[in-house]
Amino acid sequence: MARRRERKDDSRSRRTLQICILAAICFWMTESADVGISALFGTETGYQDNYKTIIQDGVRYINRNTTFLSEVHQLVFVDSSINSRPSNSVYVALQEGCDHVATSQVSALVLPKDRCTASDDIAGVLSHATNPVFSIDPGNLGSGSTAFKMQPSPEDMTSFYIDILSYYSWMNFTLLYDDGGAFANMEGVMEYATMNKWNISTVIIDEEFGNNIPMIEERGSKNIFIYCSSEIILRNTIDQALLFGTMGPAYTWMIGNMDMGIDRQFLEDLEDSNGFVTRFNMNYTREQQYALPTARNTPTGEWQFRERCAFDAVIAVGHGLRLYRKKRVADGNTGSSVLPGDSSMPACPTSSLVVNENDLTYYLKEVTFEGITGTVAFDDEGNRVNYTITVRSGQGETIDQIRGDWTQNIEYWEDKWNRKWESEGRFNVTTYNYGNDRKIKVVSIEAEPFLFLREKRAQELNQYNLRQSSTYTGNDRYEGYIMDLLARIKSNMRGIDFDYEVELVPDNKYGNKDVFSEEWDGMIGEVVRRKADIAAGPLTVTEERERHVDFTFSFMSGGVKLLLQNPYFVQHYIFRLTYPFGIEVWFINLIVFLLVALLLFLFNYFDPYEWQAAAERGETFEENGKNFNLKNSLWFCTTTMFLQSYDNSPRSNAGRTLTAFWWVFILVMVFLYLFNLTFFINSNKRLVHVKDAGDLLDQDDVVFGTVDEGSIYWYLYKSSIPEYNRIWQRMYSAQPSAFVKNTTEGVERVRNSNGFFAFLGEAGELDYIASKRPCNLMVSGGYIDRTTYALAVQTDSPLRDQLSYAIETLRDSGVLEDLQREWWERESEINNRYRCNNLTTWERQGVFSFTVNDLQGVYFMLLLGFLVAFIVFLLEVIFFAAFGGKSKGTRNKSRGGVSRNPPPPMSGGGGGPIGGGQPIGGGGGKSDGKEKMWI
Ligand SMILES: *[C@@H]1O[C@H](CO)[C@@H](O)[C@H](O)[C@H]1NC(C)=O
Ligand SMILES: *[C@@H]1O[C@H](CO)[C@@H](O)[C@H](O)[C@H]1NC(C)=O
Ligand SMILES: *[C@@H]1O[C@H](CO)[C@@H](O)[C@H](O)[C@H]1NC(C)=O
Ligand SMILES: *[C@@H]1O[C@H](CO)[C@@H](O)[C@H](O)[C@H]1NC(C)=O
Ligand SMILES: *[C@@H]1O[C@H](CO)[C@@H](O)[C@H](O)[C@H]1NC(C)=O
Ligand SMILES: *[C@@H]1O[C@H](CO)[C@@H](O)[C@H](O)[C@H]1NC(C)=O
Repeated sequence: MARRRERKDDSRSRRTLQICILAAICFWMTESADVGISALFGTETGYQDNYKTIIQDGVRYINRNTTFLSEVHQLVFVDSSINSRPSNSVYVALQEGCDHVATSQVSALVLPKDRCTASDDIAGVLSHATNPVFSIDPGNLGSGSTAFKMQPSPEDMTSFYIDILSYYSWMNFTLLYDDGGAFANMEGVMEYATMNKWNISTVIIDEEFGNNIPMIEERGSKNIFIYCSSEIILRNTIDQALLFGTMGPAYTWMIGNMDMGIDRQFLEDLEDSNGFVTRFNMNYTREQQYALPTARNTPTGEWQFRERCAFDAVIAVGHGLRLYRKKRVADGNTGSSVLPGDSSMPACPTSSLVVNENDLTYYLKEVTFEGITGTVAFDDEGNRVNYTITVRSGQGETIDQIRGDWTQNIEYWEDKWNRKWESEGRFNVTTYNYGNDRKIKVVSIEAEPFLFLREKRAQELNQYNLRQSSTYTGNDRYEGYIMDLLARIKSNMRGIDFDYEVELVPDNKYGNKDVFSEEWDGMIGEVVRRKADIAAGPLTVTEERERHVDFTFSFMSGGVKLLLQNPYFVQHYIFRLTYPFGIEVWFINLIVFLLVALLLFLFNYFDPYEWQAAAERGETFEENGKNFNLKNSLWFCTTTMFLQSYDNSPRSNAGRTLTAFWWVFILVMVFLYLFNLTFFINSNKRLVHVKDAGDLLDQDDVVFGTVDEGSIYWYLYKSSIPEYNRIWQRMYSAQPSAFVKNTTEGVERVRNSNGFFAFLGEAGELDYIASKRPCNLMVSGGYIDRTTYALAVQTDSPLRDQLSYAIETLRDSGVLEDLQREWWERESEINNRYRCNNLTTWERQGVFSFTVNDLQGVYFMLLLGFLVAFIVFLLEVIFFAAFGGKSKGTRNKSRGGVSRNPPPPMSGGGGGPIGGGQPIGGGGGKSDGKEKMWI
């Protein structure tokens, strides 16, 4: 539908045009101060209108600006009437051209399509008869045409293609071409290829591209060079290739046509296809194009290259006329005589082709201007010179990446830009590099397993006799994830020379901005100061950094985690059992204990209802009088303190009241102690379960810290999340400082702090550290925060897109994942010795359960008890041996009692804490009962 409407519009505008042209011709007949320009069309119809419009646009452009011709002169388009007649031979065409020139007296002739059924290059033939003739077709190699050829000459194009193909090392490719003389334009390349033993197979484009696919596949090469003489066929072919998936990631395409018109939709399709495409553009300024009147109404939205050439041909004529007029004015001519019919093309055939100062051709060869096809200038043969071609290539989002420039004339380029052309040849590859050496400088940082120093690692391994150490140079000095990543990226950057040199960052820092001087240090600093092209390492993408460098796509996601000592390996303070109460509490409790014992003793001594008084009165056995002497009082307090039974309970109300309160006191104290105890024994395990910032803040047994002014430091400090600020605050206010100089120091501190220091760091790095010997560290379960790692490059560096593209390819193909697995979990001889993944179940369980370490205090207490008891035992034996006689009587006397009575309290010293073995509370009653029995 849309197309039909366009057609209708076309025909309407054609009618308008015809009227205009008629008017213009009438005008020209009456006013001879006008200069004519005309066009000859071939036999094919359908595109004339388009070109007529374009030429009209050019004419208007010239007439609007009086610097070209003066106010009194006009450039007019003289429509030729011969376009409808069949011209099937070059002679007929020549004849028609000459007739036209003779009758219309135009100053220049444009041939949008200088082909007929029997011949091409009609412009070339005509140029030997009369000039200036403008040819829009690319022309043939060595044709000897003196027409002004708007397209780069076939000779130049051959040399251009060879430069590009050699650069890409395309020695195997399939050449796709249409039948409109395209192959002839590739002949130079084919010759060169044969000479250099390249394998080029050719496929002529079928209207049904599907028919071409088997052929392309049969050729085996994934490199496809397409060149069509018709941009419409080119566009159709690519459209179909997109449809069939032949322009997918598996193929690499090079579009030989210059400046293929690519509209927005088409570009998006190309991006989506993810095929790697190389394109060529004449270097022109965009502004020029916006000056064009009908540019936006063309069917493709973008002008085809040929259309641009036609427009520039008219502008070239304008410039030629400007120079011509200038000369005439200099010669003293004025008014309308400045530009009479003198500038008309000479009638053909001319006997001599010598161009003199009265010919427009003479001036056209001096023209240089910036057109919409780049710099327009011609040499003596009418070939385009002094232009520059930009080579773009890429894939997906990076499809527009500039890959380099090719200039037709280095000398001109250097004059024009007043700069040195930085390549020996005409093709300057825009590899991003530093100074004169063609190597990309990569700055990195020692961070295992991202980057190891080989030598250091070898030494380390030598401890286990694993490897011979030797000296390394260049990039061999390093190994690790980053080195592997760079190597993979290099092999995935198609068409890019990517030689790199890795250096360690001198200050061993990742990169932070100094608050006062605003200077960056570390790897970021190196890139910001343009000392390095790439910063590679576990570099976190932060907003602040992003403002000063560009980051590529991330190659790894990570986060902030906590490195801590595995609780299993934490050595505890042996008397940690005492922690539940402060030292004053223990002290006061001791006093309370002694006081209660003393009071009981005193009650016993003075209270008439107590055991002693009762015994003296003979109300009970004599021995019972000693039930609450000082020693037994202490023992009473001891047994009740541990909620055990006792031998005797007080008899008096005073004693019993005191005892009751003592029991309350003991109950409270014991339960407080027990409840608190697990907390203290567990303290080192709490950090293991930290899942987020909140968990971290919820504990305060362990001090945590991070690298001073490292990325985490700043991230937490500047974060808008209050919890993160509080973490920072906590670290900042810690005494001694919780900040360390670098990760190594942090890890050391964790190892040496016996569980009282935890280190906040990047998960990837920490995981690796924790997997190394000695296996006494671990990483908390959850992420405090999530981050991503990416390579950093200088702002606006063209490397960014190239690297991003390579990284994406690596991610899609699973290489990144493999790399990560390899460096973190690889099963090599080295890592088996290093790795901590074969901790015993019990060791692993130590994170959750109580370990000997946790409970050693209890065991120690028991041991102490054994020891003291044994000493007392010895003392008693010695004492008995020394003073045996004295105590013998007492002992014998009491023997009878012993058999009938509960064991004498004397046995207490340190023997068995579980004296009577009777349940609490029942003791009193029972002993009362026994007592009654014996009364
Ligand atoms: C007219 O043409 C001259 C020569 O190309 C150019 O320098 C000038 O900017 C043009 N003026 C306008 C108004 O476009
Ligand atoms: C060309 O193809 C042949 C056979 O397939 C192969 O042996 C040769 O290496 C190829 N040449 C180049 C330059 O790739
Ligand atoms: C291409 O043209 C632009 C704009 O005129 C210019 O800045 C750039 O330097 C040119 N590039 C080359 C290689 O000539
Ligand atoms: C092209 O550049 C060369 C070198 O600068 C110069 O000598 C020549 O005049 C230029 N050609 C034209 C037509 O300006
Ligand atoms: C040539 O390449 C170098 C290095 O990539 C680049 O710095 C320079 O700008 C390029 N020159 C041109 C004219 O493109
Ligand atoms: C742990 O690793 C060491 C070193 O490779 C090995 O000798 C040992 O058998 C491993 N232990 C277990 C339980 O796998």
